Amino acid sequence: MEKEEFRKYGYELIDWVADYLEEVEKYPVKSTVQPGEIKAKLPSSPPPHPEKMDMILEDFQKIILPGITHWQHPGWFAYFPSNSSPASILGELLSAGLGTQGMVWETSPSATELEEVVMDWLRQMIGLPEGYAGVIQDTASTATLCALLAAREKATGFKINEAGFEGVLRVYASREAHSSVDKGVKIAGFGKKNLVAIPVDEEFALIPGQLEKAIENDLKAGFRPACVVATVGTTSSGAVDPLKPIGEICQKFGLWLHVDAAYAGTAAILPEKHWALEGAEYADSLVFNPHKWMLTNFDCSAFFVKDPQVLTRTFEIHPEYLKTGVDAVVKNFRDWGIQLGRRFRALKLWFVLRSYGVEGIKKIIRRHIHLAELFHDELLQDKRFEILAPVYFSLVCFRLNDGRPEEELNHLNKQLLEAINSTGKIFLTHTTLNGKFTLRLVVGQRTTEERHVREALNIIKTRAEELLKKNI
Ligand SMILES: Cc1ncc(COP(=O)(O)O)c(C=O)c1O
Repeated sequence: MEKEEFRKYGYELIDWVADYLEEVEKYPVKSTVQPGEIKAKLPSSPPPHPEKMDMILEDFQKIILPGITHWQHPGWFAYFPSNSSPASILGELLSAGLGTQGMVWETSPSATELEEVVMDWLRQMIGLPEGYAGVIQDTASTATLCALLAAREKATGFKINEAGFEGVLRVYASREAHSSVDKGVKIAGFGKKNLVAIPVDEEFALIPGQLEKAIENDLKAGFRPACVVATVGTTSSGAVDPLKPIGEICQKFGLWLHVDAAYAGTAAILPEKHWALEGAEYADSLVFNPHKWMLTNFDCSAFFVKDPQVLTRTFEIHPEYLKTGVDAVVKNFRDWGIQLGRRFRALKLWFVLRSYGVEGIKKIIRRHIHLAELFHDELLQDKRFEILAPVYFSLVCFRLNDGRPEEELNHLNKQLLEAINSTGKIFLTHTTLNGKFTLRLVVGQRTTEERHVREALNIIKTRAEELLKKNI
């Protein structure tokens, strides 16, 4: 592609994205295509000859766009958000334009040093003590896997890296922990059966006494406890595991504490929500996702460690072809995680942090939390609904309950969720809490306003009424 053509389509695409972000509300939030529909419209073999950009863009509109679920839609209340912002998109564009790869300091000193700086800004924003060092990972799943591997190595004096697995190491997390912990435990070689599920209290938070008991029982049985994963803002209900007592237990038994704050970590920048990270100073590692709730487009996961040496000893490799003359005095982020090649993600994060400022980000997070509380309060006015978990951040768990037996309620609420999502105006997802089919509404999109939350309330109540009338 010639420079002038690149410029022409570049301008065109920026215009398209600017309009898209402005008008995303006109699309059904959740794609309505059927499995296989998109694939059937695409050729099964690659184009042998160059094709015109006009044709590619036309096919994007005709074929690809209908299969897009619009995460940036203000009616997005599903899963957790993966929000974005114009500043982030521009940073991402520049990063792609530079096409740089920051595996070692020398392959782009700015990539490494900007990452060090913005990660320290984030550390200060969420109130982690000085001394924690940060690195950007692609996802919280990867960060948690890195933490598990580092914990494994620390517990065994770095023996498993050398000689392979020996003995039984145990990992502890509440039964509400995210599936990335199960996945990490599998990949890191602990074995699924060595992930011990700790019971939770009535607010779905890990019970520290139960954790201590489990560790003591394991020690008696000859197992080696290695790591505890605590969650701040669980996926199902937003529960907060109490870090301080958990940290004290980890300290007592010499266990690695990893904190998964993938979603709720962002809220800790608010003084009124900082309580959620109280005790984080006990953590050996902590992850939260700017790509969830901090206006930075996917992917960008902030991973902090107390002692970077444990991490680098776990991951370091020193082949001749990667050695540089400054290795002794710089950070080479290839040794801070799994991948060698690394995208320049710090750039978009820098754009976001500078263009919004900390106060600007706080304002948006506060608005989301306020809107979730508004949803909660208004829904409670309708006696046919019940709230199933405390609302600490911007996630509300609820269901329709007209008094029928539990199994029938599950069926009813499943129907309700389908009816809500079929409107195309809003998108909610579900979980189960104590066996109850639960609808989750999370406010987290940059452009979600009160009118969208009121529309959600209206849709939910109207669809519930229709279902109850039909006597489903
Ligand atoms: C609590 C928690 N941890 C981890 C993850 C995984 O995040 P990622 O997609 O960045 O791996 C999620 C995803 O929603 C989550 O809710």
